[in-house]
Amino acid sequence: MKILLFGALGQLGTELQATMSSLGEIAPYDIHNLNLEHTKEVKETIRALRPDVIVNASAYTAVDKAESEQDMALRVNGEIPELLADETALLHAMLIHYSTDYVFDGSKGTPYIETDEPHPLGVYGRSKLAGEEAIRAGKANYLILRTSWVYSRNRSSFVTKVLEWSLKQEVIHVVDDQVSNPTWARRLADVTARLLSKEPGFLRERSGLYHVAGNGYASRMDWARKIIELDPNRHEQKVREILPARTSDFPTPAQRPLFSALDCSQFQSTFEIPLPRWEDDLQLAMTG
Ligand SMILES: NC(=O)c1ccc[n+]([C@@H]2O[C@H](COP(=O)([O-])OP(=O)(O)OC[C@H]3O[C@@H](n4cnc5c(N)ncnc54)[C@H](OP(=O)(O)O)[C@@H]3O)[C@@H](O)[C@H]2O)c1
Repeated sequence: MKILLFGALGQLGTELQATMSSLGEIAPYDIHNLNLEHTKEVKETIRALRPDVIVNASAYTAVDKAESEQDMALRVNGEIPELLADETALLHAMLIHYSTDYVFDGSKGTPYIETDEPHPLGVYGRSKLAGEEAIRAGKANYLILRTSWVYSRNRSSFVTKVLEWSLKQEVIHVVDDQVSNPTWARRLADVTARLLSKEPGFLRERSGLYHVAGNGYASRMDWARKIIELDPNRHEQKVREILPARTSDFPTPAQRPLFSALDCSQFQSTFEIPLPRWEDDLQLAMTG
């Protein structure tokens, strides 16, 4: 199998390079050797390589910056996925793409399912929704995996930030009114590889959008507490107390959904791939 991977140096892309390595030949691209905004080059690369699968782990993920860089966010998250879907369709290949819980406004109060109406609160969410819609409107076989609160230990993430704070501060204030599913980048990469190890026909028949995230959900404060508790270097921590804060205590340019947990049961039953509890994956991430 020939796999073309975009976003190869991001949190997820880095993990995908490892988890997909046994599936076949991977052609990894990142912004340094191919800027996806250079659409002519992107098309030429895809047409020259003729991959069986395009995995798009690239995205404009700066949620706050997107508010002032709307055009770029829309190009990278909205228009490039459309181009990738068109090229995938021409090659009769498969497109794997990732989206976000931030397509929702967080007002539902229970975990979101795939058919819930999106209503993004900010530019990032709107741009990611545009990407989803463009892929779904096209002719390609695709799997869009909507995920949330992705972290890794190898790139800057909420987990690495909490660990940094824990070394420097005795008291940490973390919001307890934002709730979703912490998702380990390696798990998402592992799930992607497991999907791609299935028969192409099986995947084509199940082409669509699915929620894929850590099982269960937590507030950012619960998540921070667990990170600190599971830190193998706990003896080096300076932190003594983690106190709850409100989102309104830390004004940011982008508004975030408060309750954006994803219900992933559709994915698990369709593909028979279980998703571990977020706490169990965090434990693996902290010790692995
Ligand atoms: N992180 C989260 O909490 C989260 C939550 C829900 C969904 N997701 C989705 O999950 C997927 C993976 O996210 P992630 O956390 O792995 O993101 P990430 O670490 O920010 O990785 C994205 C990669 O895309 C690259 N990129 C951005 N613009 C590009 C361009 N024009 N051309 C080529 N490459 C470009 C980035 O390069 P630079 O770093 O150099 O800009 C980065 O390496 C994305 O679709 C994201 O929307 C993420």
